[in-house]
Amino acid sequence: MTMELKGRHLLSLKDYTREEIQLLLDTAADLKRQRYRNELGTSLLGKSVGLVFERPSTRTRVSFEVAINELSGDALFLSSQELQLSRGEPIADTSRVLSRYLHGIVIRATNHDHVVELAEYSTVPVINALTPMYHPCQALADLLTIREKLHELEGLKLVYIGDGNNVSHSLMLGGAIMGLEITIATPSGYEPNPEVTQIARAHAEANMASLEITNDPKAAVEDADVLYTDVFVSMGQDKERKKRLAAFLPDFQLNESLVELAAPHNIVMHCLPAHRDEEITDGVIEGPHSVVWDQAENRLHTEKAVLALLL
Ligand code: CP
Ligand code: NVA
Repeated sequence: MTMELKGRHLLSLKDYTREEIQLLLDTAADLKRQRYRNELGTSLLGKSVGLVFERPSTRTRVSFEVAINELSGDALFLSSQELQLSRGEPIADTSRVLSRYLHGIVIRATNHDHVVELAEYSTVPVINALTPMYHPCQALADLLTIREKLHELEGLKLVYIGDGNNVSHSLMLGGAIMGLEITIATPSGYEPNPEVTQIARAHAEANMASLEITNDPKAAVEDADVLYTDVFVSMGQDKERKKRLAAFLPDFQLNESLVELAAPHNIVMHCLPAHRDEEITDGVIEGPHSVVWDQAENRLHTEKAVLALLL
């Protein structure tokens, strides 16, 4: 059976099956091998991709631009500040116009509804490059990294410690679809969104995976294969900084004593940017278990797979 992803949007991994995610990961692995052999692709030849960013980015912007260039396409970086969007042009109008020029739209938005509306009116694939709700492109790179380092996905114990945010949501969904045993450890009041949790649980049940939400980080990390954290203060939450740090520190910091409780072969992951000595200690992110640089590199390969298959 050939699977057809052409023309699909990527707003959240919840809309993708295990086979489709598998295809994205296998394609990313192929494209990674090709890049190491200096073989560049032509799948975006003659295609232009717009990158609409309402928020700052290092990894997502650069990996998408390089991915598009290396697949022989053209990337247009479109800061929302420089579009008429900033002067009140409706998203629906922007979407219909951009669809007439571009072959795909990558968007990082301050509100998930912006991405949903853009996709609703777009006749070309829309790819979510982070919203406060989801970060599916990150989760694809995370899954590829776990598979590379631990040689499988099914049955691995993945523990995410910290804020029940966009990154945790996409990891939960991707992990549940791919058959991982997932635990999310957050302070009380910072659990993942209940609707997303419900969807992830349904995926877990259908895929022989599991999902546990807890407020006990020490118990959670016991025998974990994968430890994952993200910032306590996401983009757009700077006003809550003091309150958040008080809620998360010291118990939810990924430090040496938590890492010691995990399985000896554990890998430590972080989507980056990291705030050293807040959510993760310098010793852990720079230590022997950390795979964060390979994880960041894999953004390029999974971004390429998304573009090559959807566009
Ligand atoms: N991980 C990630 O999405 O990083 P950027 O914000 O730098 O794109
Ligand atoms: N949770 C973080 C992820 C950054 C890549 C944020 O939304 O700011």
